[in-house]
Amino acid sequence: MSPESVDLRGSETTMLITLYLRERDARSAHPVLGDRFAGEVLARVQHDPGALRWFSSDTATICARARRLDEWTVAFLGEHPDGQVLHLGCGLDSRPLRVARPPGSRWIDVDVPRVADLRRRVYDLPDDIETVSASVTEPGWWERVDADRPTLALAEGLFMYLSPADVHAVVDRLLTRCASGEVAFDAVAGWTLPVSNAAFALLGVDTRFAWGFDGAELTARHPRLRERDDVTVSELASADTVGPRHWLYRGFDAVPVLRDAMRLHRYAF
Ligand SMILES: C[S@@+](CC[C@H](N)C(=O)[O-])C[C@H]1O[C@@H](n2cnc3c(N)ncnc32)[C@H](O)[C@@H]1O
Repeated sequence: MSPESVDLRGSETTMLITLYLRERDARSAHPVLGDRFAGEVLARVQHDPGALRWFSSDTATICARARRLDEWTVAFLGEHPDGQVLHLGCGLDSRPLRVARPPGSRWIDVDVPRVADLRRRVYDLPDDIETVSASVTEPGWWERVDADRPTLALAEGLFMYLSPADVHAVVDRLLTRCASGEVAFDAVAGWTLPVSNAAFALLGVDTRFAWGFDGAELTARHPRLRERDDVTVSELASADTVGPRHWLYRGFDAVPVLRDAMRLHRYAF
């Protein structure tokens, strides 16, 4: 089968980076995530391995982040077998196949139409996984979300690409629509925006970070949110790696400015 051609724009292109890193992790000697679907899916999509290779050094952090989000998802669905997962900005991630989904639960993958359509073409997902082709910032698709089910909204590698107003609008819609649940997401420190954006420009990636995390601002703006977890991605990566990489991430985690570069957050509401 020849690979699917892709016509991706802006932040849509970044889901090839995370997919590549999961594939790279899965074929490594000490996988952090061990995503057994990533290799087959990557092979089904046209991509430029030379361009993706520039991001190889992020393999452990990106896969440690995904693994912790998998663990939080399993814990949530364990506590709430009737729960609902909103997999926002899902890209080509195999999470609904990686985690155990109780028979009474609901799973909704959401990404912009170009990515959601590609997702439908390259995955053979079970019928009970719903795929929504929409921007998370559009109000219409929220009508498909059950208001009464406990709801876990996952946003992995998403919020940093949205404007601050859009991040708050998504959280507002979640809190208005859903009676109870959690929101889990990774976020970058504000100081990383110009640095990351310069790196994107240098590597020819047509996207930019637009939102930097400020916990006090988030909870002031959304007082229903109660913090459950706040972990550094370097701490996760150090726990999941061996040898020199382990010590490299331990070193990052000892320096506050580096430790704060990317953190993983979980709030209940
Ligand atoms: C870095 S990728 C992460 C993909 C996936 N979560 C993963 O970890 O592999 C960012 C994803 O966010 C999606 N995205 C960006 N803006 C979006 C929006 N406004 N609505 C829905 N998805 C969006 C992109 O299309 C892309 O799939």
